[in-house]
Amino acid sequence: MVTVRAPATSANLGSGFDVFGAALDRPADVIRVEKADRTTIDVRGYGSEFIPEDPADNTVGAVAEALDAPAHIRIDKGIRPSSGLGSSGASAAAAALALNELYDRGLSRKELVPIAGKGEATVSGEVHLDNVAPALLGGFTVATGRDVTTVDADIPLVACLPEIAISTRDARDVVPAGATMEQLVYTVGRAATLTTGMCRNDPRLVGKGMHDRLVTPARADLISGYDEVREAALAAGATGVTVSGAGPGVLAACYPGDRREIAAAMVEGFAEVGVDSRAYQTKIG
Ligand code: HSE
Repeated sequence: MVTVRAPATSANLGSGFDVFGAALDRPADVIRVEKADRTTIDVRGYGSEFIPEDPADNTVGAVAEALDAPAHIRIDKGIRPSSGLGSSGASAAAAALALNELYDRGLSRKELVPIAGKGEATVSGEVHLDNVAPALLGGFTVATGRDVTTVDADIPLVACLPEIAISTRDARDVVPAGATMEQLVYTVGRAATLTTGMCRNDPRLVGKGMHDRLVTPARADLISGYDEVREAALAAGATGVTVSGAGPGVLAACYPGDRREIAAAMVEGFAEVGVDSRAYQTKIG
């Protein structure tokens, strides 16, 4: 039997749609795998009632098939599904790692990224590596095509999850089909600023670089209370706020020591519009 912990991740970070990702030090899923003649999946924990156990419909089923590694797979969910914290990507990444070890396939973590990406596509409908790459490699990741680069960043974050469910498929439907040159220039500037901030462990640059005028506004419209929560987090000291992944989670970057106040302000912001939420004080890990 092999047991693996899979961290939550936050994709996009505002300006890096489908490219940037960050591994968070909490929450996390735990996956246990045992060899079997055919793959079976048993899901327990946070939101498990919403996750299909049929291998054809679950991210880890596609991973087991891609690695030719049938197994009994038990997933203990710590990451709420459809929250914007890479729940399905975490399971796919952990399954890839655990099955690779169980069957002695000898693949590196980097080689497992596209395999976990296949699993992720089962849920989102498209292959994007910005959750599975940080889940497997840790830190801040930049995934372009099959190339993934990583930075060992140490940035404090708060992730606030409202009790609203938005599927990645639905959130992808509102992404604009194109961009103007002005939007493109703005996005490149912010993305470069964010990357520089990650390399320097500078929360101010990371927060500034999160600002996005292209994808985030369309997705923010799906999240009741987004504007209130953003304003509240900024007033409490956040250096930047954006939608976490496809949402509805909201992510704030900040300086060490400011997380508690920002977390309380974000929960209060959602409460103002009658939405319950839970905030995680976390960091890139
Ligand atoms: N980059 C993806 C999206 C992440 O924003 O749709 C989904 O978890």
